[in-house]
Amino acid sequence: MVAKNHFCYISLTVLCCMAFLGVQVTSRSLQDASMYERHEQWMIRYGKEYKDPQEREKRFKIFKDNVNYIEAFNNAANKNYKLGINQFADLTNEEFVAQRNRFKGHMCSSISRTTSFKYENVTAVPSSIDWRQKGAVTPIKDQGQCGCCWAFSAVAATEGIHKLSTGRPISLSEQELVDCDTKGVDQGCEGGLMDDAFKFIIQNRGLNTESKYPYEGVDGKCNANEAGNHAASITGYEDVPANSEKALQKAVANQPVSVAIDASGSDFQFYMSGVFTGTCGTELDHGVTAVGYGVSNDGTAYWLVKNSWGTEWGEKGYIRMQRGVSAAEGLCGNAMQASYPTA
Ligand SMILES: *[C@@H]1O[C@H](CO)[C@@H](O)[C@H](O)[C@H]1NC(C)=O
Repeated sequence: MVAKNHFCYISLTVLCCMAFLGVQVTSRSLQDASMYERHEQWMIRYGKEYKDPQEREKRFKIFKDNVNYIEAFNNAANKNYKLGINQFADLTNEEFVAQRNRFKGHMCSSISRTTSFKYENVTAVPSSIDWRQKGAVTPIKDQGQCGCCWAFSAVAATEGIHKLSTGRPISLSEQELVDCDTKGVDQGCEGGLMDDAFKFIIQNRGLNTESKYPYEGVDGKCNANEAGNHAASITGYEDVPANSEKALQKAVANQPVSVAIDASGSDFQFYMSGVFTGTCGTELDHGVTAVGYGVSNDGTAYWLVKNSWGTEWGEKGYIRMQRGVSAAEGLCGNAMQASYPTA
């Protein structure tokens, strides 16, 4: 009798275990199946194709890890910002950084900074400003897989000062900088500096329009003919005194300003909305443009920043980055190497 009872006990346990395992196995594969489906939907949405099934499997695993990270982040409380499954969801953070960010600031041993700051005596600054509302900001552009953020940043600041000084909105050519500004530090898709882009625009006596010298996203041969047509020009450029968000505010209150940031974190890669307060360093590797500032509904002060990663990233291509942080360098180092062109 004892043996029989024992047998019953074992078989029940085994049955239960099997049933339990069965449920586990089924739910896990269902989860994977639905993740696979999400990856497929995502591929369709972003027009992604992989060269072979191995590559697809590899990208699926990265996609899954990223989606799990993003959802865990969004489910955790106490965050001012949300992450999203954007066009970068099948890239590891290392791949993402290697493809897009090529601001050369941290690689140059000695960066010559200008010392004059035309806004030094500005005392009254508005509590908020959005240069988009004044028509001084062109629609969001997309640098693609070319590391020429520096060109997009410099062009956006130049478009801003052109509109403010002439009253005429204009979209200018990044490709001209990529192709033609190659004699110094700037090296097209391999990286560059906004200040050196301003130097090129001054020496070239202007820049052509986006439509006449359109963006291709790869290093090309300089079209000297088109580079000789000047739709907008600048007379100089100045650096905002380093490590002062107050100084940066004086400048941004007057025009869109090029800023360098550390955009290497995965929270930056997947930023979707809200005021970004995320963890980031000060290894400047990306160029963007501060086109305003303000205070969010929950009272968090922010910089309004135009990026060049298309409209699927962030708030329709923009990011609001926390302003007035305790570090003098600003969040992600955004107060370290800001500069603007003068007209
Ligand atoms: C700021 O004010 C000081 C003192 O009046 C003056 O010397 C300086 O030239 C001013 N700076 C600018 C950029 O106007």
